Amino acid sequence: MTPEEFRRQGHALIDWIADYRAGVEELPVMSRVAPGEIKASLPTAPPRDPEPFEAILRDVGAKLVPGLSHWQHPRFFGYFPSNGLLASVLGDFLSTGLGVLGLSWQSSPALSELEEVVCDWMRQLLGLSDGWSGVIQDTASTCALVALICARERASGYALSGDGLQGSQTPLIVYTSAHSHSSIEKAALLAGFGRNHVRSVAVDERYAMRPEALAAAIAADLALGLRPCAVVATTGTTTTTAMDPLGPIALLAKAHGLWLHVDAAMAGSAMILPECRPLWEGVEGADSLVVNAHKWLGVAFDCSLYYVRDPEHLVRVMSTNPSYLQSSVDDRVKNLRDWGIPLGRRFRALKLWCLIREQGVTGLQERLRRDLAHAAWLDAAVRAHPRWRVLAPVALQTVCVRHEPEGLSGEDLDRHTQAWAERLNRSGEAYVTPAKLDGRWMVRIAVGAAPTELHHVEALWAAMQAEAERG
Ligand SMILES: Cc1ncc(COP(=O)(O)O)c(C=O)c1O
Repeated sequence: MTPEEFRRQGHALIDWIADYRAGVEELPVMSRVAPGEIKASLPTAPPRDPEPFEAILRDVGAKLVPGLSHWQHPRFFGYFPSNGLLASVLGDFLSTGLGVLGLSWQSSPALSELEEVVCDWMRQLLGLSDGWSGVIQDTASTCALVALICARERASGYALSGDGLQGSQTPLIVYTSAHSHSSIEKAALLAGFGRNHVRSVAVDERYAMRPEALAAAIAADLALGLRPCAVVATTGTTTTTAMDPLGPIALLAKAHGLWLHVDAAMAGSAMILPECRPLWEGVEGADSLVVNAHKWLGVAFDCSLYYVRDPEHLVRVMSTNPSYLQSSVDDRVKNLRDWGIPLGRRFRALKLWCLIREQGVTGLQERLRRDLAHAAWLDAAVRAHPRWRVLAPVALQTVCVRHEPEGLSGEDLDRHTQAWAERLNRSGEAYVTPAKLDGRWMVRIAVGAAPTELHHVEALWAAMQAEAERG
């Protein structure tokens, strides 16, 4: 494709995406295809001869769109929002179009330095002190892995430079709440702690980690001769957006020399609102922290902001320095390859930069405040209904609900919940996520897709009632 051809097709592609975003509300939110249906509609072998780009774009509309569940739909209330605001989409295109890689500062100085600048902009926006240094990783899962590897290395006196974990007889222990994201256990396993050394700390009636339970677990492990190493606390758990009390957890971490990683993947975005910051009071006592700018904030996936207190430690753990990556300015610059796992680095900072500049801080804040008001509206509407219950505090924008018809309980109630949620999702009217809380099924409503207005939430509530009362 020549640059001229690219210009023509690129215009057509942008038009296509603009039309998609403008018309997405007309589409069923959840894809209705059966497993295997999309594969069956595609050729099993690659084309022998070149095809016109128009034909490819036609197939996107005809064959792929029916197989999409639409995350940018105004009635998408599933999982957590992963908003790709259009300014950040353009930033992402720009990154791909430039096609530069950040292997070292020298391999693309602007890539590294813009990343430093936007991470620091975000630090300020989140109300964090200047004792934090940030870098962009792909996902919160990767950040948890990096954090736990750093914790392991701090506790083991840089065992990786010698025998690794195999040189020690004393197991290192990781603590996290029973409600933390599955990526935390996965990170602990991948970092070599072993399932037997991951403690699931009990939660309180608000589904937040109980500091007394953490203290007891640490004491029990010390009594057994084990070595407490790290605690992962969550600001905004996945099931209910519960807020682990960071203040007391940080005190315990400090007293026992534990690494504290804060997983604020979803709720971190809310900290651009000063009124939400009490929810993570104590965050300054952490060693590392992740906020997924690719969730509610609106940066096109993927863009996880990873902040650390001690960048020298991170670099010491992650650094490799082969001769072909060395340059004469290395002592004066940040080589971001040493701030994470992959060597190659995309120009992700562009999409965050474009978003912040195009929206302004006020634009970002207004949208999040709008979503908080919508969630509060739904919370009140559900609570006012005698047969519906809100099951957890609505800290931000996620509302956990159950329809409880008279006489239904236990597994019958579970079947009812799963059935109405399935009917609602299949109807195409909205997309919600059923999940288990205290061993029983309920439905999570995550408000906060970028185009969602109050009338969409009202329509959701009407559809929920219609589907639940039909069962
Ligand atoms: C609290 C929390 N942590 C971690 C994750 C994982 O995020 P990622 O897909 O960026 O790894 C999620 C995903 O929703 C989450 O809710």
